[in-house]
Amino acid sequence: MQICRSKQSIRDCVAAWRAEGQRVALVPTMGALHEGHLTLVRRARDWLDARGGGRIVTSIFVNPTQFDQQADLAAYPRDEDTDLRLLRQEGCDAVFTPGVEEIYRPGAQTVVEVTALSRMLMGRLRPGHFRGMTTIVTKLFNIVGPDAATFGEKDYQQLTIVRQMVSDLDIPVEILAIPTVREADGLAMSSRNRRLPPEDRIAATVISRALDRAQALMAGGTTLPVLRQEVRAVLKSEPRADIRSVDIRDAADLSRIDSLSRPVVILLAVRFGEVLLIDQRVLNP
Ligand code: PAF
Repeated sequence: MQICRSKQSIRDCVAAWRAEGQRVALVPTMGALHEGHLTLVRRARDWLDARGGGRIVTSIFVNPTQFDQQADLAAYPRDEDTDLRLLRQEGCDAVFTPGVEEIYRPGAQTVVEVTALSRMLMGRLRPGHFRGMTTIVTKLFNIVGPDAATFGEKDYQQLTIVRQMVSDLDIPVEILAIPTVREADGLAMSSRNRRLPPEDRIAATVISRALDRAQALMAGGTTLPVLRQEVRAVLKSEPRADIRSVDIRDAADLSRIDSLSRPVVILLAVRFGEVLLIDQRVLNP
């Protein structure tokens, strides 16, 4: 596995693979890898294998411009040795792990923003977050030049925004949406989970219970107000849960809905102490 810390070294690496006729898949991450990330690597491998093989680049970069709170950036877990070991075991071909100064030159002015989608929902709770995300993802696409890139469905708004950006800007990359990987008790895997103290870690399972309740209601036939009310009721049953948002939107474009006649996505943001957790589920009528 090649470890590239500069843009030039990952470009040289990918160029050599391209010269051999290899396809390339990118797995963008901020490190602190867990089973969810490793699943992204496996699905990237499946995508390549289905097309005759190819190479996987995983990027590890804690992108400062997508953190709206400095404390959150400082507290973000970092463990490069473990990340590299896990990626080696997974058969990743190269890791692009640049420093901040390699990515953001002093005086840089250009940002990429998917305007409306970035300002709604989580974008209102975290101003500037999605603009930072789309800017770094565009830069990674330009640096690595992958045929495909993986994004987890857990960050559903992020996934929707990246799809919109790729379409709007004609970026020649296929976006692979990867289903959420969960702990045995239902909690969606996230690097943030390791910041939860034990009582909050147990309490946080209320999120997936709320989503299970929504799914059961939808299967039995329900209305939008009942669905919203029931999801909130399950979350409120956990006193440690600070509900930040419960949204039910059109699954295709996150627009507002007034009935459950099309596929919808439930988007939850719940804070436990200092840690904001998000989760989602797509429900079909
Ligand atoms: O989902 C993430 O980990 C990040 O937002 C991403 C896509 C790696 C961009 O920094």
